Amino acid sequence: MPDLSVQLLPGLTLKNPVIAASGTAGYGDEPNRLYHIADLGAFVCKGTTLKPRVGNPQPRIMETENGLLNAIGLQNPGVDYVIEHYSPLWSKWQTPVLVNIAGESVADYAEIAKRFDQVSGVAALEVNISCPNVAAGCLEFGATPEGAAAVTRKVKLATSLPVIVKLTPNTSDIVALAEAVENAGADAVSLINTLRGMAIDIKKRKPVLGNITGGLSGPAIKPVALAMVWRVAGAVKIPVIGGGGISNADDAIEFLLAGASGVEVGTAALVNPSVPDDIVKGIEKYMLQWKMTEMAQLIGAARR
Ligand SMILES: Cc1cc2nc3c(=O)[nH]c(=O)nc-3n(C[C@H](O)[C@H](O)[C@H](O)COP(=O)(O)O)c2cc1C
Repeated sequence: MPDLSVQLLPGLTLKNPVIAASGTAGYGDEPNRLYHIADLGAFVCKGTTLKPRVGNPQPRIMETENGLLNAIGLQNPGVDYVIEHYSPLWSKWQTPVLVNIAGESVADYAEIAKRFDQVSGVAALEVNISCPNVAAGCLEFGATPEGAAAVTRKVKLATSLPVIVKLTPNTSDIVALAEAVENAGADAVSLINTLRGMAIDIKKRKPVLGNITGGLSGPAIKPVALAMVWRVAGAVKIPVIGGGGISNADDAIEFLLAGASGVEVGTAALVNPSVPDDIVKGIEKYMLQWKMTEMAQLIGAARR
């Protein structure tokens, strides 16, 4: 059988490259009943902030042509609750947990990172500087190389955990962002977060979402995400985690061929919770078919 393991981060090897994307599987207590987190390479929890957040006014989610618009607004119970209630659960898992963190200020990010340091069951941090649905913070830093680098530097100083920085597609130059966070010490980058979008109800003549705009995810964004992953993987030396619209094994294989060392799956698992499992099996089948024995033969193969 082919070996699907990938060394994603310093000291962190995943048994396969398939990762549950932040915000689409909560903290792992609910989807565990529906799909098998144990079979995934890693799990990213919902974006966690310093204080609890109630999120944006309803409606916060709507289906679009081949996609999903969401404006949850980082609803979460806050860092202390997450440490107390979910870390004991994560400590029992074999699947590494990457904690997605978000702040309203650079100091917030550093404080959250500090609190998660040394917490059992936490394998790494994914720093979300790319949420398009909150009024303060996040994209405020993530849209410019200077802002993205400043957050990365502070988080790196505050933790001994490996740090992944999650980049936004809502920028004119995602490669510049990736290079800036690499230079600031990021151990890996993940991309893409959602693309800002909106919908208007023509009968009510009002925006559909309570927040007016939201973030677009799902199959509609896949070609955009893939092109960004391709460009970033060609520019940085640190590992790239790719995602955006991955719905089946073929999609995931495209991202791996483009140079991603891991793939995040979000919206597709909301539609069918067995998709991540099916993707793991599909990658294995593809490798067998093409007589590949290890992931290095697959990752970046379209660039060679
Ligand atoms: C309902 C919902 C909530 C999300 N919440 C977060 C979040 O808290 N933090 C984050 O970094 N990304 C969040 N995302 C973005 C996803 O993790 C992912 O990057 C994006 O949806 C693109 O992948 P997909 O097309 O496979 O869903 C969220 C996406 C959705 C659909």
